[in-house]
Amino acid sequence: MGVIDSGLGGLTVWRELVKVLPHESIVYFGDSGYCPYGSRSPEAITKRVRAIVDFLIEKRCKLIVVACNAITAACIDYLREHYNIPFVGMEPAIKPALLGTRTRAVGVLATQRTLKGNLFARTKAIYGHGITVIEQVGHGLVECVEALDFDGPVTLRQLNDYLRPMIAQNIDFLVLGCTHYPFLAPAMQKILGDAVTIMDPAPAVARHAAHLMETQRLNGSFSQHPAESVFYTTGDKTRLERLLQRLISSRYNVQTIDL
Ligand code: DGL
Repeated sequence: MGVIDSGLGGLTVWRELVKVLPHESIVYFGDSGYCPYGSRSPEAITKRVRAIVDFLIEKRCKLIVVACNAITAACIDYLREHYNIPFVGMEPAIKPALLGTRTRAVGVLATQRTLKGNLFARTKAIYGHGITVIEQVGHGLVECVEALDFDGPVTLRQLNDYLRPMIAQNIDFLVLGCTHYPFLAPAMQKILGDAVTIMDPAPAVARHAAHLMETQRLNGSFSQHPAESVFYTTGDKTRLERLLQRLISSRYNVQTIDL
């Protein structure tokens, strides 16, 4: 199975995938050298992602998890049309938040590209009637995560700027629309307090990917014994390694690539 992100954020999805698919080998591709994607055009994102998908198919991946909301918003339809392998995408978990809110106010923190996506607009239109949805672009947050700054002064200042107005509007759910952001969830929760639930779709996406692997009989299609994750980055290899060490201490193999 392949996993793609603009950088380190997809690791928040990868860590859920290894829980539900412990016997599957995973090839992770983080395009940190070209991160952030969120402010790029759909055409520019599609061009990068095509090269990455071709690379992952060469590595014999039979299903690809697009562990990036911005890529999903920009080109998941294109990928499904042009390749004959299944793609699992990310979308902000706004539906359960809109169905669950009691205060009738929900916050969404995402990158520009994701907030402009059709999928997001459609879900909001269907389930958001009578609910205040506060959309906030998390300018600079992807960069903070790429720098492994999860709770330093710069990160906290930005989080406060984005979350305080949402608290003032009495939100009870904060939807994370970027796979980088769950790394900041502990800092966010401190600002928001316990009354606000932070929604990260990664566990549900991982379960969906596992279900597809099974129903399409792809399990073990990329098997190595024992199952192993291999990580490729177009950016700084040591950052990915440091983050992996924090997340999990199992086998991993990180390589730098120029694509
Ligand atoms: N992890 C990506 C996402 O989920 C970050 C996008 C970016 O690089 O701006 O959207």
